[in-house]
Amino acid sequence: MIQNMSTPGPIGVFDSGFGGLSILREIRKVLPQYDYLFMGDNARAPYGSRSFDLVYEFTLQAVRYLFDHGCHLVILACNTASAKALRTIQQNDLPLIDPSRRVLGVIRPTVEKVGEISHTGHVGVFGTPGTIQSQSYNIEIAKLHPAFKVYGQACPMWVPLVENQESDGPGADYFVQKYINALLAQSADIDSVILGCTHYPLLMDKIKQYMPAHVSVIPQGEIVAESLADYMHRHPEMEQRCRRGGTCYYLTTEDADKFDSLAGIFVNEPVHAEKITLH
Ligand code: DGL
Repeated sequence: MIQNMSTPGPIGVFDSGFGGLSILREIRKVLPQYDYLFMGDNARAPYGSRSFDLVYEFTLQAVRYLFDHGCHLVILACNTASAKALRTIQQNDLPLIDPSRRVLGVIRPTVEKVGEISHTGHVGVFGTPGTIQSQSYNIEIAKLHPAFKVYGQACPMWVPLVENQESDGPGADYFVQKYINALLAQSADIDSVILGCTHYPLLMDKIKQYMPAHVSVIPQGEIVAESLADYMHRHPEMEQRCRRGGTCYYLTTEDADKFDSLAGIFVNEPVHAEKITLH
């Protein structure tokens, strides 16, 4: 049962797995005063190669769960869910569930920033196969920066490398170089690259090592955090419904001990998650 709308609740942050923790970490740096409820659907991750319908169904289940547990505002800290589920949830589901609640994604704020960073107007996007196939970045960039050219590169091996704690291993060197080369082969004019998957910041050291120095790697977590701070400023009615306490509580659909051991790498602090079931 959805809690009373006047009772402030935590800000919900959702990802298919661990990646969203890289967004949560940056959000908490900028907005440490609020309570947060993070959920990773680790049992069903990765979402990257799943169908549109399944990503939508799973994401809606997560959003409903977070609403039922007091969140008025939910951030989809997952590019795949933002690409495949956000619009339908905002347009079709929210009006029926509770029009006063909000679900925000990570693609739009990232795209808003690209115009300030790229000088050539040739922008690369690394993402999961689902995000790249959805063309969500191309569509959003075309709306805001119609003259820009967007080059997508799916990186199906990067999420498994991160999830299996191989970000520093030789396999990561191989696959980071492979996808960077494939992206840059699409255009010599690319001067900025969006890491369009919340897992990818964990590969940042290697990405920077192999990316030519003139190409900017756009930090999505910081951008989303600044955009959320701006949203709170512009929406005092929502800000008042976000509970202040500075706490963070973690939920996972997989084994909690497993979640705790890997989540710590993303947030640099001990994590004690609770296992839940989504349906
Ligand atoms: N964190 C997801 C994203 O940002 C990728 C992981 C997955 O494939 O589930 O797209």
